Amino acid sequence: MTPSAPVLRVEHHPQPALGVGEDRPRLSWHLEDAPAAYRQGAYEVAWRTTAPDGAVLEDTAAVVDGAAQVLVPWPGAPLGPRARAEVRVRTRDGGADDAGWGPWSEPAVVERGLTAADWTAELVGPGYDEGPVETRRAPLLRRGFDVPGREVRSARLHLTAHGLVEAELNGQRVGRDELVPGWTPYDDRLRVYAYDVTDLVRTGENALGTWLADGWFRGRYGFEGGTRDLYGTHVGVLAQLEVVTDAGTVVVGGDASWRSAPGPLTRASLYDGETYDARLLPAGWSEPGFDDAGWSPVAVLPLDRSVLAAPDGPPVRCTGELAPVSVTRAPGPDGEDGWLVDFGQNHSGRPRLTVPAAPAGTTVRVRHAEVLQGGTLYTRTLREAAATDEVVTDGAAITWEPRFTVHGYRYAHVSGWPGEDAPEIVSRVLHSDMARTGWFASSDPDLDRLHENVVWSLRSNFVDIPTDCPQRDERLGWTGDIQAFAPTAAFLYDVHGMLGDWLRTLSAEQRRFGGTVPVYVPWIPGGRFWDPAQDVAGWGDAATLVPEALHRDSADVALLERQYASAVGWVDKVAGLAGPDRLWDTGMQLGDWLDPTAPPEDPLRAQTDPHLVATAYLARSARSVAEMARTLGRDDDAARYGTLADEVAAAYRKRYVDSGDPMHDTQTAHALSIVFDLLDGDDARLRAGERLAALVRDGGWTVGTGFAGTPLVADALSSTGQLDAAYALLLSHASPSWLAMVDLGATTIWERWDSMLTDGTVNPGEMTSFNHYALGSVADWLHRVVAGLAPLEPGYRTFRVAPRPGGGLIRAQARHVTPYGTAEVAWRIEDGELVVRCVVPVGTTAELDVPGLEPAVLGHGRHEVRAPAARPESPLHR
Ligand code: BGC
Repeated sequence: MTPSAPVLRVEHHPQPALGVGEDRPRLSWHLEDAPAAYRQGAYEVAWRTTAPDGAVLEDTAAVVDGAAQVLVPWPGAPLGPRARAEVRVRTRDGGADDAGWGPWSEPAVVERGLTAADWTAELVGPGYDEGPVETRRAPLLRRGFDVPGREVRSARLHLTAHGLVEAELNGQRVGRDELVPGWTPYDDRLRVYAYDVTDLVRTGENALGTWLADGWFRGRYGFEGGTRDLYGTHVGVLAQLEVVTDAGTVVVGGDASWRSAPGPLTRASLYDGETYDARLLPAGWSEPGFDDAGWSPVAVLPLDRSVLAAPDGPPVRCTGELAPVSVTRAPGPDGEDGWLVDFGQNHSGRPRLTVPAAPAGTTVRVRHAEVLQGGTLYTRTLREAAATDEVVTDGAAITWEPRFTVHGYRYAHVSGWPGEDAPEIVSRVLHSDMARTGWFASSDPDLDRLHENVVWSLRSNFVDIPTDCPQRDERLGWTGDIQAFAPTAAFLYDVHGMLGDWLRTLSAEQRRFGGTVPVYVPWIPGGRFWDPAQDVAGWGDAATLVPEALHRDSADVALLERQYASAVGWVDKVAGLAGPDRLWDTGMQLGDWLDPTAPPEDPLRAQTDPHLVATAYLARSARSVAEMARTLGRDDDAARYGTLADEVAAAYRKRYVDSGDPMHDTQTAHALSIVFDLLDGDDARLRAGERLAALVRDGGWTVGTGFAGTPLVADALSSTGQLDAAYALLLSHASPSWLAMVDLGATTIWERWDSMLTDGTVNPGEMTSFNHYALGSVADWLHRVVAGLAPLEPGYRTFRVAPRPGGGLIRAQARHVTPYGTAEVAWRIEDGELVVRCVVPVGTTAELDVPGLEPAVLGHGRHEVRAPAARPESPLHR
């Protein structure tokens, strides 16, 4: 019997992979099915590489011996710019049952983008005086061009901008990407997106047009009023269209022949929303034949082409639509008459309305908010983000959605709506278009809702970069938040491209600030309080712990190699700050940010000593670097950072363990000690676990942890024999707790345990979001411990099937698309028995670790085991 056809992937790109940066993209594949004894002994890759005109550059195949199937090296000649490869793979068994080659995979497509030297286009922007910032209209740019010949064989548009861009070819929108080119420090790296526009170009007359807006480049961004012109004062488009016809190749790039004019967007801001005045749209502007004589020439702007780079991750796209669950007549936040729309789910996105025909100049306004208070949209927590979209009609009916903004909201208020009928409106969910890879379900609907809330907070905050929140005047790449959440994220979605890309930005900002990892990246001026040279524990540790989490999930060693200097740089920097006593007890620390006792106006005031947190993180990151060094074969570094970790842990014990100081005897302190392996021996761990359980119990089964402790507390309990306490905390409905949020109607994870107070009013703190993922990091424990699906080796090449039933749950399950295919663990309690089913992907093995059963090693395939059920009912569970 032969194995099934492999499913092939290229790097971390979705298919087809266009405009990639890698000249030797790595390949991975998984097999859905194979005979029980199958072990890959060899693979064969066949590839056919062509130039845009179809000329064949390589057409060959290679056989490679071995079991490798994840991120294997490119077998062919390096891909030159614009080269397109169609790749297939097949495998064969290496054992006695070898039945010859299995079937070929479907072809995967990978096309290399342009290198700096391939650009002839210039960056072009509006050539007229844009006027004062307050009334500046988003520009349109265009040019007409001729394509000679009889037939268009292929056409690619390479596109980026200083600002945000959307292109139209012959009146048709190009692609469906949003907020292009996303957010990087543009003077360091500017991402270029490639589109197959073969179907949009024709021979004869054509026109290319672009919408352009301020975006992150020069729009107001940042808290405390924010800053304008962060990266420059002039917006511009860089577009190069390459068309291959039977008559040769035509290249149309930005140059002085383009024309520009103010467009119908009279206002376009990421925070504030957008105004579209349909009366100002020049009809047919992106079509051939349009008379642009009245338009202005463009300004040709300077651009360092060496910063152009291909994205590692997917673009932002609309990934779904939410229909309203209710639309009712109600006043808006300023008493304005209108309609209140509930989409039933907090999310990041923007509205799409179909406004009926109404007198020209009719203005429909949509405001957004996460929560209601007193039945009205509650906008205070948006701070200085107006989150208001407006469409001004030209008399005709119009279906309209803003282009260059995004809001975090569940509710919208529509005013100015013509007629008596309720508005026709949906919300378009927007975020980086990553593939879903992880699922969890249990017998407890509240727990499932909690997990669903984690998924929605991920979706809402993976909007090109990992943000803290999607709604207020912030939306920054806070490093501490993703540090806490990365393991959860890597389970739930394929975040590898996106976070890998963001880590490049982290390294760049770290270099810019002399080794400090800023508290958010990209770095922008941060109001009164924030300085880029602040070294902050738990935040800067994103440099070590995010690559570690990604590698654990993907086995991407090249990512570790790439981030290694950044990780080492961070640990060296902090070790220097700690000095010879190995205690990091200096500087401003965010510590256990937002622990539930912190008052609304002082989120820093936690129960746990911030310097304890800092030293614990130094030990943890030093150990993480030692582990990376081992993986990368850097044995000297492995030894050196291992010793550093041991010394820091010893200093931590001496200073903080059993010190008698109440700030060292908290849920977070014990959780850090246990999970970061800072204690000396099992007895000490067990004692810490007992103490932690006592603190949780004495707290009435409420959470006492902030950003530092929350990702760890459940693991700390379950790994020290306190599983019942872990479940009691997880399933507690006492406030503050995860399920108390659910009880108050949360549809996402909140920034604060009490973003909404138990009386249903909004926390008075000026910093109150209902959509922050950090406190949702407990989902990682749901996957690994409650359901019991946990990686042992990177990429799940070996993993544990180790469910730990408890808390009165009668079933739980988790599923994850590993690099080897889908792994699953599902258990249920049935007739006094624990029934565990699992799916082990081809190419992996699982270690079965079920209470009451002998350990066993499972090969690929489906398995079912039964064990006597242990205590199905817990008195602690409601
Ligand atoms: C952000 C957080 C962040 C914190 C650090 C907040 O304003 O929303 O999530 O980590 O600041 O100070």
